[in-house]
Parts: sequence; C-alpha cells; structure tokens
Amino acid sequence: MAKTFERMLYGGDYNPNQWPKEVWAEDMQIFRDAHINSATINVFSWAKLQPSEEVYDFSELDAIVDMLSSEGYDIVMGTSTAALPAWMVKRYPEVSRTDYEGRHHKFGQRHNACPNSPVFQKYAAALAGELAARYGSNPHVTCWHIGNEYGGECYCENCEKAFRVWLRKRYGTLDAVNRAWNTEFWGHTIYDWDEIVLPNALSEGIPGADEEHPNTCFAGISIDYRRFNSDSILGNFVMEKEAIRRCDPDTPVTTNLMGTYKLLDYFQWAKEMDIVSWDNYPGYSTPVSFTAMSHDLMRGLKNAPFMLMEQAPSEVNWHPYNSLKRPGQMRAQSWQTVAHGADTVQFFQLRRSVGANEMYHSAVIPHAGTANTRVFREVKALGEELERIGGKVIGTTNRADVGLIFDWENYWALEYIRGYNQDLRYVSTIHEYYDAFYRRNIPLNLIHDDTDFSDYRVILAPVLYMVKEGVGEALVEFVRNGGILVTTYLSGMVDASGNIHPGGYPGPLREAAGIWVEETDALAPGQSNEAVFADGTRCVCGQICDLMHLEGAESLAEYGQDFYAGTPAVVRHSFGSGTVYYIGTHLEQAGLIAVLKIAADEAEIDPVIPETTPLEVTRRDGDGYRLFFVINLQDETCCIPESLAALPDLLTGEAAGAAPDMKKYDVKVLLDVVC
Ligand code: GLA
Ligand code: ZN
Repeated sequence: MAKTFERMLYGGDYNPNQWPKEVWAEDMQIFRDAHINSATINVFSWAKLQPSEEVYDFSELDAIVDMLSSEGYDIVMGTSTAALPAWMVKRYPEVSRTDYEGRHHKFGQRHNACPNSPVFQKYAAALAGELAARYGSNPHVTCWHIGNEYGGECYCENCEKAFRVWLRKRYGTLDAVNRAWNTEFWGHTIYDWDEIVLPNALSEGIPGADEEHPNTCFAGISIDYRRFNSDSILGNFVMEKEAIRRCDPDTPVTTNLMGTYKLLDYFQWAKEMDIVSWDNYPGYSTPVSFTAMSHDLMRGLKNAPFMLMEQAPSEVNWHPYNSLKRPGQMRAQSWQTVAHGADTVQFFQLRRSVGANEMYHSAVIPHAGTANTRVFREVKALGEELERIGGKVIGTTNRADVGLIFDWENYWALEYIRGYNQDLRYVSTIHEYYDAFYRRNIPLNLIHDDTDFSDYRVILAPVLYMVKEGVGEALVEFVRNGGILVTTYLSGMVDASGNIHPGGYPGPLREAAGIWVEETDALAPGQSNEAVFADGTRCVCGQICDLMHLEGAESLAEYGQDFYAGTPAVVRHSFGSGTVYYIGTHLEQAGLIAVLKIAADEAEIDPVIPETTPLEVTRRDGDGYRLFFVINLQDETCCIPESLAALPDLLTGEAAGAAPDMKKYDVKVLLDVVC
C-alpha cells in the first residue's frame, strides 16, 4: 500500500490574508474543534508576494506558514500563478490571452495567462522557485499545489508561433502536416510554416450548436491545436514543478483538475503529477453516478488514490441555482469520494470572503464568524470520523475487471464531427455506459487507450471514433486472447488526425466486430426507432442508427421501423477466443443495461456483492482487509444487504446488520478482514 501522506488530510483553501490578523487565532481554534489538520494556502497571492517587478514580499505568507506550522498543519502550498498581477499586464500586455474571437484581453479575472508568453513563464517559474527556496524544507509543507484549475486556451501571436514549432516537432515536414490535415480539400495547402494560423473564429473555426461547441472546417488542425494547447499549459505546470524541484526534491506536487474538463488531456498531465487532485462540485441535478464516474476517472489517471482538493461545505455561488447541501449530503458525498479512491477531503473554503466573486460561496466558517451553524457541526462530525478511521483507508486500492476507455483526443475528434448529429456528446455517452455498471455495483476503471488491456476481462469502448495507430491492433489482440470488447456506433472511423480509416467502417475493428457499416442515419430529437431483441423485447433507440451488414457476427437486436427495419442494430461476434459486442445505435437505458449485462455475464463479471441493491457499494482493499463503503444516495430508505450484515461498521463499532435500515445519505464503512 503506497501512501502519499501520513494521515488523511482534512481541511481546504484558506485565505487569511483576506481578513484582519486578529481573526486568525479564532480561525485556528474553530478549525481545531473540527479536526481540521490541513490548509491549502497561497493560491491567489501573486500580487501580494510580488508587488512590483523587482520586489518580493513574503512577510505575510511567513506569518501564515508559521501559524499553521506551530498548529501542526499539513500545508498544501499554492504557487499563486493562476491570476496575473495588474502591473505585469500593464507593463507586458502579451502576458494575457487572446480569445477564440481574436480579442486580446485586458487585466482582469484569473486563469488568464498566455501559456506561451516568455514573460509569464519567466516570472511564474521565478516565483515558484522563490517559494520552494523559502518553504520547501519546512516539514509541514506536505504538498505543492501549482497554479489552479489550469484550463482555457489562447490564440495570440506567441501561441501561433509556438504552434508552428510544436507542429515541426510532431510532423517534421510540411508535407506531413498537409497530409495530416488533408489540406488538398479546398486547396488549403501550406507551403511555408508561417502560413499556418491558429484555428479560431477568424480562421477555420465555425460556430457550433452552442457556445461551448464551436466546430471547425479542418478537424485535423483543430485536434492538433487542442493537443498543442493542452501541452502548452502543461508546459507551464512542468516549468514550475522543475523550479520547485531545484530546492525541494521530494514533496509531492499536484494541481487541481476538473473531472471531465474538455480542454486538457489529463492522461498526459497525470504523468507529470505526483498525485492527482481534483475539485468536485456536483450541481443540484448531477446524477450520483456521474460524480462516481468523475472520481473513477481521476483515480484512473494514475490508477492510484487521489486528493479531493476542493468541494463545497454547502452551496456554491456559480451554478445557476445554488441549493444548500441537505443535512447529511456533504458527509455522504465526502464518503463517496473516499470510497472511489480519495485519500484527502478538502473544502473550498475554510472561511468566507467578505467581498468579490465568491462571497456567497459556502465555507466552514460563515460571515457571522461563528461555529454554531448546521454546516459547521456537519464538518466537525465528518472530521471526527475521518480522524478516527482515515488511517485505515489511505493507501488502500480500488480494483476492477472492467475498463472503460476515456480518451481526450477522441473526445475532441468526436465533437468536431461535421455531420451526423449535432447533439453527439462524448462525456454523456461515456456516462451512460458507466451508469449501467454502476447501478449493478460493478466497479469500473476509467482507462486510457494505451493501457494494457490484458489487465481487464471486459473493455468498454463507446464511441471510440478515433482509433490511433496501435490501438486498433491492441484491441483486436485483446479479443483474440479471450477478452470481451463492447464498442458502438461511430467507432473505428478515423485515425489520429481525424481522417478516415479506409476499408469500410468500423475501420480497424471491422474484422473483429464481424460487420460492415454501410450507412449511418441520424435522428433528430423527438424521432426514434426501436431495437427488437430476439426474445421480442423492444427498446427505443435513436440519435444514431448504423445500417450494417453481418460479416460473421450474429444479430442480437434488429431495427423495428423505417426502411431498415429488420436489419441488425446490436450484434455479437466471436473472434479468436473472445467476443466483440457492437451496439449500432443509441439505446435507451433499459436496453443498454440489458446488452451490457449479457456482455458482463459472458465475462463472468461479479458485482461487489451478490445482492442487487440501490445502495452504492464500493470496495477498497488494504493489506489483509477490505473496506466496503455502503452509501444511500437514493431518496428512499434501503436495507443493508444480507451479505454485509455481519461486518462491523467502523463508524459505529456495531455490526452493519444492527441498524439495517439506511436512510437517505446514511453511510457505513465496513471492515472485512481477509487472511
Ligand atoms: C474552483 C477554484 C476555487 C474556487 C472554487 C469555487 O474550484 O479552484 O478557487 O473558485 O472553484 O467553487
Ligand atoms: Zn497566447
């Protein structure tokens, strides 16, 4: 069991620089009472630490660090580079970003630095280095938190030049670039590197169905821009990490990720991070299985425990409707996070700010400055539980026999499709497949497409539109050796550049899937077809309907309507020692669950417990013991399953069956000793 920290960190973002020093001692007393043992500091203090180009001033940060050190905190130390100081933007306007519309931004907001600005790079790395020299040897600084929620994109001239350099490195020659982008189309052939421009709204970009989904005339260019932008911003992270490493060789380094956030390829990022951390902010209507999936994705990035860097103690301020967390909800969400692999529970924020953007965001200490609140009592109760049993949890591992591929390059490529159906969304499709297993308490690992598939018995590859060189071969090999592959419509279609794999859809998967997809129909909202299964069961389907020919596969369901009624909609093909399931259409939930159950049964995949239950049951394994996290995230009271009833609940000390009825948000952490 590899542990990154000695204890389960419990705390969160703390900005005492925003209020008078007299209040600090009060804060410490209140936090002590809540079993808080960690604070994330210095996340947005660049302007304070460096009031001008020549001057650093660490006096206030010294005082904060001294106070937290003497209180025995684990300090998660920010580097403050996620918001530019005003003086820097004034003197060097190039440090800010140019947006998709081509507008160069003035000073304001945060997450606003051009990743390719040499000025930003110089000063950000210098600040990180100064911080490491000053605090790196403090034993209370147990983690570095670089930047904050990296993201966004820049289309400035510095980025354009850097893009050309990046392309030279990736492709070597302009011929290769032209081929990759298929520039013969519309005569867009590039003859000189400096003819290459960034694909924003002034170039190849075109408006999409909504603001978040602009499209492009040349997917190849835009996919490469996405890769480049992710790499550029990652370069900023690495640059600060290297500056820290010069003074502090050991303390783990992280940055807070954002789940399924589209613009950064987190699998590449994770390689540079010592531990993954992320910020979990489910909205009032976020499905609990979506949150579970996000946790599993964050764990999957390194296939290791992660940090919950931020969650709200109660409401946030930036959802359209900022509902309070109901009594027990924050606790249940925290345990759900731990169940899925978190080794820390941290809040944004420990005390509320009195002004500006986040003054109505919840905190451990409210504006009234008192601990006599519902939220505080819940924070304190959870702190007591984590302090008591956290040591048993940290470093334990989640394992799964089913791998679900999540690939950012595919995400970008799929959503750049010019055609078919504008409502195609990668993450929601992945979530439907995840959810079908989640409901049955079958654990999944979210994996990258370069994972060793032989670690799994089932690989789920929904809408795996982009199949890169080597990936198709690896999937086919996996099936040949006895694996079960489930894939769907729009899979296997394009290569790493977004160009068609010739030879008929689904390209490299055609032979193993035993089908050829001749045409693909798109159905508008309100239109549907039906998948009719061999036993007569009917299930509504729509969005995309592949029209396919069997080339060795057997049909499990056929379309019920339209001119392609009676042709296969869902097929199964024995190939080598394994099987491919190809789901040619978007099935409504019941049908999808049924098909995935057939696939899971064929692979003899068992749920975590034998019973079917609406409770969320997750397992983490330690040396010689297993922990079952049982959480009621449903509205109704549910009874603890029989197979778990005899196990002791670490939270109460009693057998789970002693209090069998679990109300909404109830949690049990059950210990199963295995010899
Ligand atoms: C993000 C940021 C924090 C804060 C919170 C508010 O996660 O990282 O700085 O703005 O949102 O929810
Ligand atoms: Zn830029």
